[in-house]
Amino acid sequence: MQDPILEIRNLRVLFPVHKKWLPAVDGVDLTIQPGEITGIVGESGSGKSVMSQSVLRLRDHDTAVRYEGEILFEKENLLKWSLKQMRNIRGNRISVIFQDPLNSLSPVHTVESQLMEVLILHKKISKEEAKKKSVQMLKMIGIPNPENCMKKYPFELSGGMQQRVMIAIALACEPKLLIADEPTTALDVTIQEQILYLIQDLNKKLGMSILFITHDLGAVSNLCHSVKVMYLGQIVEDAKTEELFTHPLHPYTKGLLACIPHLAVERRKELPTIPGSVPSLSHIPEGCHFCTRCHEADERCRKMPPPVVEATPGHTVKCWKYAEGGKKNEVGV
Ligand SMILES: Nc1ncnc2c1ncn2[C@@H]1O[C@H](COP(=O)(O)OP(=O)(O)OP(=O)(O)O)[C@@H](O)[C@H]1O
Ligand SMILES: [Mg+2]
Repeated sequence: MQDPILEIRNLRVLFPVHKKWLPAVDGVDLTIQPGEITGIVGESGSGKSVMSQSVLRLRDHDTAVRYEGEILFEKENLLKWSLKQMRNIRGNRISVIFQDPLNSLSPVHTVESQLMEVLILHKKISKEEAKKKSVQMLKMIGIPNPENCMKKYPFELSGGMQQRVMIAIALACEPKLLIADEPTTALDVTIQEQILYLIQDLNKKLGMSILFITHDLGAVSNLCHSVKVMYLGQIVEDAKTEELFTHPLHPYTKGLLACIPHLAVERRKELPTIPGSVPSLSHIPEGCHFCTRCHEADERCRKMPPPVVEATPGHTVKCWKYAEGGKKNEVGV
């Protein structure tokens, strides 16, 4: 087996709220192998963005933040790096695309200058080479007339085209890892499909690893090799995609799967929901984070954090239900 591209060990990310440091990410372990697409799913507020942005330390600039644990990228702990060192890695060895391309692209620069800038900055190539490579990138991501697109400002492009340009900029320096934080949420359904297909195609062509963050379990099932389910700062279940969809274990994962609309409609049932909503950081329950919304929770779940249990090889779940009896191999608490 190859060395992992990214290994996150017991990561905690804390923000000051009412004079206390509260964890938006609370003990996350995660490994991404070269070329693998790893999905992170969970409701709004579960910590997906904070966790993934921590890999690039994107929150360090605008807010007080404290990190604990390790983020090993090709074996180097990024939490020990200076922000200057981080600037060299961003958009170069690790890239990111966000939900809203218009907010991420500069409104006052053409596509050409934004694409060329990243190439000249990180690859130290000439203007001519950067221009040639920029056109190639736009071609690769399926922009029909790249030379024409180069001259445009982002607001002159459709949402789908803007997201393609974002992807071209993110991939220009051939990163080892692409973080895609809800890259299709702001797009209409047909464009969503095209962008997902593009990401899958680029993963096959370029072999980069992808951390794919989404609310959309449908997208995960088509795209990802493995899935981590996140709830209130913790990974509560982790398995290969097919295994997670066919044998979900955690009550939260089962709830999320039951909420996929087309499945519910096929069964002619009313669309189910998970009762309640993700609590705020100042109301994290003492025991299992999910206990306030779990119909199977008992006294122990409310009092004590559950262990992470390897229920079957490669399939872990953080739930008391699997800690005894069905327990095969406890891998951490
Ligand atoms: N600077 C901050 N200070 C305090 N709390 C914060 C800060 N940034 C994020 N949080 C909190 O961290 C938690 C996780 O936020 P995050 O944005 O990672 O959620 P998410 O899973 O990405 O949600 P969504 O699906 O809506 O994007 C939330 O409760 C959020 O309010
Ligand atoms: Mg988010």
